[in-house]
Amino acid sequence: MATQTRAPAGVPLGADVTDPNLYATDSWRPVFDKMRAEAPVNYCPESPFGPYWSITRHADIQTVEAHPDIFSSSYEHGGITVADLPDANFIAMDRPKHTDQRRVVSPAFGPGEIARMAGAIRQRTGELLDTLPIGEEFDWVDKVSVELTTQMLAILFDFPWEDRRKLTFWSDVGGDIASTFEPAANAIRNGHLADMTHYFDRLFAERKALPPSGDLISMMAHSDAMGNMDFAERTGNLILLIVGGNDTTRNSMSGAVVAFNRYPEQWAALLADPAKAAAAAPEIIRWQTPLAHMRRTCLTETQVGGQTIRAGDKVLMWYISANRDEAVFPDAEAFDITRANARRHLSFGFGVHRCVGARLAEIQIQILIEEMVARRMTAHITGEPELAAQSFVHGYMRLPVTLTRG
Ligand code: HEM
Repeated sequence: MATQTRAPAGVPLGADVTDPNLYATDSWRPVFDKMRAEAPVNYCPESPFGPYWSITRHADIQTVEAHPDIFSSSYEHGGITVADLPDANFIAMDRPKHTDQRRVVSPAFGPGEIARMAGAIRQRTGELLDTLPIGEEFDWVDKVSVELTTQMLAILFDFPWEDRRKLTFWSDVGGDIASTFEPAANAIRNGHLADMTHYFDRLFAERKALPPSGDLISMMAHSDAMGNMDFAERTGNLILLIVGGNDTTRNSMSGAVVAFNRYPEQWAALLADPAKAAAAAPEIIRWQTPLAHMRRTCLTETQVGGQTIRAGDKVLMWYISANRDEAVFPDAEAFDITRANARRHLSFGFGVHRCVGARLAEIQIQILIEEMVARRMTAHITGEPELAAQSFVHGYMRLPVTLTRG
């Protein structure tokens, strides 16, 4: 489908908010504030990824997500990232195949499984916190956020524990979308991803030979919809689950430290009343917004926010902007763990593709905070955080901290 290169007359033009600098320098806020106020649905005629629409208000994003038959996620139209990616996984599929595959993995994230995993998450989190140095600078991203989310994935997959950092490596490779533009780098990326699929193929074969169990690999191996996927679909879905579970929650775990450092009275409130930790998790995820946007492709001409979007147009839904929408979140920039409607954030998306791991992500963050509070452990930022220079995964590469206790 050809995307138009010129905006029709009268369409509000917008800045290229895929510019990695906006996120590397943390300067995205005023740009989106202006868009929401003056041109909430706007057209960017030129970017390294071609022209695209930006949807910046909370209500308009819900409208787009509520119409998956008009706004497609399918990889056949370019998928869910601003760069067209051929990854054949279920986040980048439409009905009915999306529904069939999502149904296979969803039970792994249901309330019963989460309750079952919560004990292991708490134990691993506590053990990790007890190994951290007190009063000595270290990188929170690597030692805590990456390690905890990697451990979580290993539990979900029932993955060989000693090999778990392979999951971190594959997550970084899979999430490195920039390398797909450069043939040599792309060939290296594909080589690593093929290694990943071969590694998992052994696990699939082992689990298939055993009775079904609650881990994700067993669930996929024993299902009709995912038991016989071809190589591309196996690779695509593994990347989805690994990147989905790793790159996102990890950034909220780092964002929590940044938020509590910027709003120390909120940390004091938690120390005074640890029961507030459950309510803090959704506010952290709103405030930090680990995925800045998701993309759709319009299949049928339609109106959103008073603008006409044509068939073939690329549409970016900026969750990072919706989570600062004052029409929904008064004083939206403020980090407030008592915010009554924090759960209305769009960090997990909305509608049929809404994050399947949402509750698991929340519980991991909640437990991390609870275990820190139980140890009276406070993280103090000691240097400039290094931010990710990209417009899809929004987060931290490095976050130097020291810890105090008491
Ligand atoms: C989908 C965000 C954690 C697995 C999504 C979507 C978003 C998202 C924005 C797409 C929603 C849409 O298009 O409407 C997040 C955030 C997380 C998180 C912010 C952490 C704070 C996780 C975890 C897992 C996971 C822990 C599992 C290991 C998935 C999967 C999908 C998905 C499999 C595809 C769902 C579908 O297409 O039906 N996530 N996610 N995510 N997420 Fe998450």
